[in-house]
Amino acid sequence: MPDLNLLARCAARRAEVVRQLAAVGGGVAVLPTAPEALRNRDADYPYRHDSYFYYLTGFTEPHSLLVLQATACGQSRSVLFCRDKDTEREIWDGFRWGPEAAREAFGVDAALSINSLDAELPKLLADQPAVWWPFAVHPGLETRVEGWLSAVRALARTGVTAPRTQHDLCAVLDDMRLFKDAYELDVIRRAAAISAQGHIRAMQASSRGLRQPPPQGLREYHLEAELLHTFRQGGAQAPAYGSIVAAGANACVLHYRASEAPVRAGELVLIDAACELDGYASDITRTFPADGRFTGPQRALYDVVLAAQSAALAAAVEGARFTDPHDVALRVLAQGLLDHGLIARGKVSDVDGVIATGAYKRFYMHRTSHWMGMDVHDCGDYAEPGEAIDIQPDGSRKRPARILRESMVLTIEPGLYVRAADDVPAAFHGIGIRIEDDIAVRAGGQPCEVLTAAAPKTVADIEAVMR
Ligand code: GLY
Ligand code: MN
Ligand code: MN
Repeated sequence: MPDLNLLARCAARRAEVVRQLAAVGGGVAVLPTAPEALRNRDADYPYRHDSYFYYLTGFTEPHSLLVLQATACGQSRSVLFCRDKDTEREIWDGFRWGPEAAREAFGVDAALSINSLDAELPKLLADQPAVWWPFAVHPGLETRVEGWLSAVRALARTGVTAPRTQHDLCAVLDDMRLFKDAYELDVIRRAAAISAQGHIRAMQASSRGLRQPPPQGLREYHLEAELLHTFRQGGAQAPAYGSIVAAGANACVLHYRASEAPVRAGELVLIDAACELDGYASDITRTFPADGRFTGPQRALYDVVLAAQSAALAAAVEGARFTDPHDVALRVLAQGLLDHGLIARGKVSDVDGVIATGAYKRFYMHRTSHWMGMDVHDCGDYAEPGEAIDIQPDGSRKRPARILRESMVLTIEPGLYVRAADDVPAAFHGIGIRIEDDIAVRAGGQPCEVLTAAAPKTVADIEAVMR
């Protein structure tokens, strides 16, 4: 059975969509779930529903689609299309709800067979002023919408009118999804707690695996296996994204995946891995010494990144801009790069110079934050809605960054990545460090809630947990 709390949230969200559509004259929203995807020959990728669709239905079966009708005066009707019951297929593939049971269990006004979609949608679109669907999410949907609209237009001589305007449903849903409700925050907290345990387990497996190596010697995939084990043991359905387990200089490759490189004493390991639980992501990076003891140069840079992360966390308060944590983290990183001779003072003399010239970008080339929720890089506008665009003297456009509000969830993930180069002190070559937590913004300027705090990150805590 679906979670009743979740279903109540979904119903409230559908009501909010109806309210917003009604406010601009009403219309019909059409929202499909994700297709199944073939991996190779007849083997599928594990199925994952579409996040927008799940947000409004709580329904996880493929071949489903939601229609919401909203009149200008706020009347509404929800129709779920889903697969029919099929005793034969259910023997092979397992339970499916079927329209009748789905209607009752998921609280929609009506449910119909997905096989009747092309026949029913033109009826649902008839005499409606507008159609809303998610633009640029589902390849081919635009053509299907055109097909349904053509079918309505074909009835023109019977007095039926077709919707005259099309709108992006994401414009409504993205902003709703940006603000997490109590149910969502609870799931994300639990996902984050499982992921944090995975990081602890991988850290411990690293120091232990170097003392008692497996036959192949300790390798990145051994640590990945610990993470995956912990995620599933904790009840998570899957990793929220491809796990990065990068030993030594592999940490300097930003999109490295867990592979088979040896894990060596004296080197760092960067792990960016976290689980998805009940449709919600978590996203954690920790960097630790493979054998449990930081060397001097590793520790020096680690403490710079940790200080940058602390400053960024402190800046992530309600009323601040989305970019404020990045800006304060960057200043700390820039100072550290100067202090440790990674940027020669002869070239730029101070933090402002490092930032103005972009000299830091060799060592820190990504942003500090992204929204997180059902998708690890979640939807939501990064610019503040309604604030004027600033046109710069060179013609470029600058939109003021989003203002952080209570219950927004984002990551804070500064790093430093030092590739070997003649003009960089050799002691730092091949060191890559990132420290990433997930946070929820709290009300009234309170410090943010660090959802991933259970994963150790100070030098002392990491060394203690790995001992
Ligand atoms: N793991 C993806 C990211 O950190 O953004
Ligand atoms: Mn991230
Ligand atoms: Mn990450």
